Amino acid sequence: MIILIGGEKGGSGKSCLAQNLAVYLSQEQNSTVLMVDCDPQRTTSDWIQERNANPQLSQVNCVQLYGKIRNDLLSLQHHYDYIIVDCGGQDNLALRAAMSVAAHVLIPLRPKRRDLKTVPHMEDIISTCQMVNPQMKAAFVITQCPALPCMASRILQAKEVCRSFDMPVLDAITFSRNIYDDSEEKGLSVMELDPSGKAANEIRQIAEEMQLQNVEYTPYEPTRPQERLYAV
Ligand SMILES: Nc1ncnc2c1ncn2[C@@H]1O[C@H](COP(=O)(O)OP(=O)(O)O)[C@@H](O)[C@H]1O
Ligand SMILES: [Mg+2]
Repeated sequence: MIILIGGEKGGSGKSCLAQNLAVYLSQEQNSTVLMVDCDPQRTTSDWIQERNANPQLSQVNCVQLYGKIRNDLLSLQHHYDYIIVDCGGQDNLALRAAMSVAAHVLIPLRPKRRDLKTVPHMEDIISTCQMVNPQMKAAFVITQCPALPCMASRILQAKEVCRSFDMPVLDAITFSRNIYDDSEEKGLSVMELDPSGKAANEIRQIAEEMQLQNVEYTPYEPTRPQERLYAV
């Protein structure tokens, strides 16, 4: 099964989510996992290098692939339970090629206008790719949420924006927590740094909800016809 973590906004948490999902699936679900790093910035490859240099940690396999990666993904998927593709932050050939074969696409977004403004374009790319890959499930996931109670409405609003484009959005979110950054630096996942911590549970919930996906999602019912929040 190919899982793509994509989107066109840098810093939204794509690599972080891809890495943590890879560890969750391999360690907590005993699955074989290959990470595919399509980002020239090599964030995930650097994380893997750090991780695999530490003999205490379970190894994660990773390859770098760019451009027309469809056939590579199709042949690699026979050798692993999961292929997790970290696609970097642009609408490029690798992103579209991965979408043509992925079972799931997860698109992290921070509850910020700049991230939310990418929703229409992502919805457009996803619907185009679903014409060739109709089985593909896609969902947004809201990440790095502010924990202050007075900011809770921002999270709800971000979810509303996604639904207003008829796109599923996971109930599970990540809050902004230092442990994500701290674990990444050492080639770790949040589950390894604090197995019973809140961040570890956030990752588990995202993975479980994604695996259930078939995300139960109700199409957005606009209060006014044609209403599309943050339309650009
Ligand atoms: N939930 C979170 N809380 C705090 N920091 C986060 C969270 N998710 C990601 N980060 C941090 O944000 C930065 C950007 O994340 P990254 O995964 O590299 O983004 P992308 O791959 O989308 O460009 C990294 O330093 C990462 O550790
Ligand atoms: Mg990245």
